[in-house]
Amino acid sequence: IDAYELFAKLPKAELHLHIEGSFEPELMFEIARRNEIDIPFATVEELRKAYDFSNLQDFLDIYYQGMNVLQTEQDYYDLTWAYLERVNEDNVRHVEIFFDPQGHTERGVPFETVITGIRAALEDGKSQLGISYKLIMSFLRHLSEEDAFDCLEQAKPFLKWIDGIGLDSSEKGNPPEKFARVYEDCRGLGLKLVAHAGEEGPADYVWSALNILKVDRLDHGNRSLDDPELVVHLADRQMALTVCPLSNLKLCVVQDMKNHPMRVMLEKGLLVTLNSDDPSYFGGYVNDNFKALHDALDMCVEEAVALAKNSFTGSFLEASDIRGWH
Ligand code: HPA
Ligand code: ZN
Repeated sequence: IDAYELFAKLPKAELHLHIEGSFEPELMFEIARRNEIDIPFATVEELRKAYDFSNLQDFLDIYYQGMNVLQTEQDYYDLTWAYLERVNEDNVRHVEIFFDPQGHTERGVPFETVITGIRAALEDGKSQLGISYKLIMSFLRHLSEEDAFDCLEQAKPFLKWIDGIGLDSSEKGNPPEKFARVYEDCRGLGLKLVAHAGEEGPADYVWSALNILKVDRLDHGNRSLDDPELVVHLADRQMALTVCPLSNLKLCVVQDMKNHPMRVMLEKGLLVTLNSDDPSYFGGYVNDNFKALHDALDMCVEEAVALAKNSFTGSFLEASDIRGWH
């Protein structure tokens, strides 16, 4: 059995996945057609060619444009179901997915439409594919605190379907502390807390996510390595980091996969996990990320097994379920 085959067979959890970022061009064209919406690209190939980014904002501009075709509950169902069928092939057994309600409600799509469609597919994924799930609502950090509170109000009737909250979009200039009060309220509501930090922003933003937002898990966190004291703190606390190598390469967070910090992170004792972030835009799903690290860093079986194990340890599953996967 070769290494790729072994990585593919390992049971895995995916903890950093934006469902809107799993929107494959073929499905985007199909939904655009049925909703009679124009896409500013003639073909699937032309659209894929536009997926060439030099930073996070380049990507976000096209990511928000892509999600504009989503309108009906069926659209959100189809989007989510396509992702689940795809990762079932990668032997992903548990997913904790983000959705960006403000990217939809801003355009007049009701919150209820978005969450009902996503949730129906997740429920079908559980019953038909055996994939368990958690759902994480993310706030767009380039929007105001008031907008985030408004989003939380709209979410209130659906809190029984929401396991946690996250923070994504343009990081630089939008530090975690901008959302300190929203996070405090969400903590009071019993929600799990995660936030993107240290993707493009500095290690200071990671400290703020920990100390001010009091996150239960960190998304990306690459720039933590700039601060040795922070690395020790993260390792001591066994704080889970959801790292996304193909994303890092596409958004120029790393210039060459051979320089990806995954091995260094493992060596420093960090609880790192491997994830796809926005697989349709970044060129691969979870197993492609394992493969990319194998090709670039010669990642060995022990490292891959550790990452797969960490994906369950870092999840919001119950301890008894986590033990079942170890
Ligand atoms: N970073 C910030 N915002 C995002 C990302 C990301 O990697 N993906 C989707 N929204
Ligand atoms: Zn992300």
